[in-house]
Amino acid sequence: MTFKNIPNHLAVIMDGNGRWAKKRNLERIYGHIEGIKSLKSVIKGVMHHKIRYLTVFAFSTENWQRPSEEVDSLMHLLSEYIDLELPYLIKNKIRLKFIGNTENIPENSKSAMLNAEEKTKNFNELIFSLALSYGSKEEILNAVCKIAEDVKKGSIDVKDINGALLSSYLYTAGIPDPDFLIRTSGEQRLSNFMLYQAAYAEIYFTKTLWPDFRKKNLNAALKNYEKRVRRFGKTEI
Ligand code: IPE
Ligand code: IPE
Ligand code: MG
Repeated sequence: MTFKNIPNHLAVIMDGNGRWAKKRNLERIYGHIEGIKSLKSVIKGVMHHKIRYLTVFAFSTENWQRPSEEVDSLMHLLSEYIDLELPYLIKNKIRLKFIGNTENIPENSKSAMLNAEEKTKNFNELIFSLALSYGSKEEILNAVCKIAEDVKKGSIDVKDINGALLSSYLYTAGIPDPDFLIRTSGEQRLSNFMLYQAAYAEIYFTKTLWPDFRKKNLNAALKNYEKRVRRFGKTEI
């Protein structure tokens, strides 16, 4: 399947793992485990369509408030995923980046993350960002504090502050804004994801639960994107 226009940067809010498991009378973690298969399938699709940037929301700053058993197993699952997938990432020249607040991430997960970032840092076939312990409000707040510190130090001037400078202080520095944002599971909200970056993203909501979302669902979403007319506030030409 080929498309006339594909997004340069695709962002995905991978939601609905718990409900997928519940429907099968399974514990929530089984939904997360199945969700990893969806992620692999989507990465394959993204590579096939030559999408340059993929960002997925895996764990939010608010998700820390979930029961500790779920948080622990999710962290474990993520580091396991990173270690297991690293050879695939290297083979396919995919650069893995983490966006979020690494402070709270358990040490062993953090070292898996840093190792994968280091080993893939020179690749650019696909820039794959995993949003982990990510919250957009916190990201913006941190950026504002760092800018204020740099103004105080004299390394930047107040008149240098513009959109490009603010973007360079966000976790997503160097990554263009998402063109297309998919959220699965029927929820129609951003849940603190890329509030600044998604200002002009085309948004696609689907009722499909994340563990059921595979390449064919990605193709359906991309087919929908193909029809979108992006005006960025201007009139249609
Ligand atoms: C998304 O699935 C994964 C994470 C937020 C970690 P959920 O765990 O939110 O699943 P639902 O929304 O409860 O079904
Ligand atoms: C958003 O899903 C975060 C991730 C998918 C990682 P949530 O399940 O946490 O969002 P809400 O609570 O339904 O808004
Ligand atoms: Mg959810």
